Amino acid sequence: MSSNSIVASPRVLGLLKGLHAASLAQESSFSLVVFWLFKVIRYRFAKEKWSSRDDDFMRDKFIALEPDKCELVYLLARTTGALNIVEAGTSFGVSTIYLALAAGQNAAAKATSGPIIPGQGAKVIATENEPEKAKRAKQHWKEAGEEVEPWITLLEGDLRELLPLEVNKTSQIDFLLLDIWTPMALPALQAVQPKLRHGALIVADNTAKSRAGYKDFFDYVCNPSNGFKTLTTPFKGGLEVCVYLPENTA
Ligand SMILES: C[S@@+](CC[C@H](N)C(=O)[O-])C[C@H]1O[C@@H](n2cnc3c(N)ncnc32)[C@H](O)[C@@H]1O
Repeated sequence: MSSNSIVASPRVLGLLKGLHAASLAQESSFSLVVFWLFKVIRYRFAKEKWSSRDDDFMRDKFIALEPDKCELVYLLARTTGALNIVEAGTSFGVSTIYLALAAGQNAAAKATSGPIIPGQGAKVIATENEPEKAKRAKQHWKEAGEEVEPWITLLEGDLRELLPLEVNKTSQIDFLLLDIWTPMALPALQAVQPKLRHGALIVADNTAKSRAGYKDFFDYVCNPSNGFKTLTTPFKGGLEVCVYLPENTA
């Protein structure tokens, strides 16, 4: 890590550096570049959506959020004091590490007396439906240790089934990261919305690059009656920053 934005031990920073390097190396590989090229062509000309064949190809791929986006997500979570965070799309758990650092540090900053108990009052709800990926994510969090692992609750399976149940048990959600195949973005947002606090942040990746895939998401967040304000920031591929500001609930 070259910037000074992340507060973490040298061990966690070193782990993140290695994981990002592995992810970026995969992304620049010939097979992944060709995969995305054909994906765009097939979508544009045949309106072909995400398929089980795509899932098979992605099973051993990180597709981690890029380092600069992860740093922004961490800083946004820190500056808003986010305690309860949802991550839609966990893969090998790279962005989750940043979210867990932020949730744990926010909890420590808020605690005035008594021990800080991870999971009580602050947590990251991570979601992954590929068992092998979930296993790798857990290994990385274990390697990261106390600063990270205890703050994460991993839901293993389809978030459309599992997320509403876990969200229902949570007092409020402060932050949602959408880093998932585009057809899942709106279902994830709608699963979390009943517990989103006024002013909650929603960050979604690749909203310029995959604008067509995000159509239902944009139709929803741009409808004023749903309570969101949104901006596409000029990160690579576009990074959406939405704020939940429904009227009459401030
Ligand atoms: C882009 S990757 C996430 C990368 C991760 N945020 C990171 O930075 O390391 C998206 C992940 O979402 C998972 N996923 C896709 N559909 C899902 C669903 N319905 N429920 C849970 N996870 C899902 C995929 O298996 C994939 O690993």
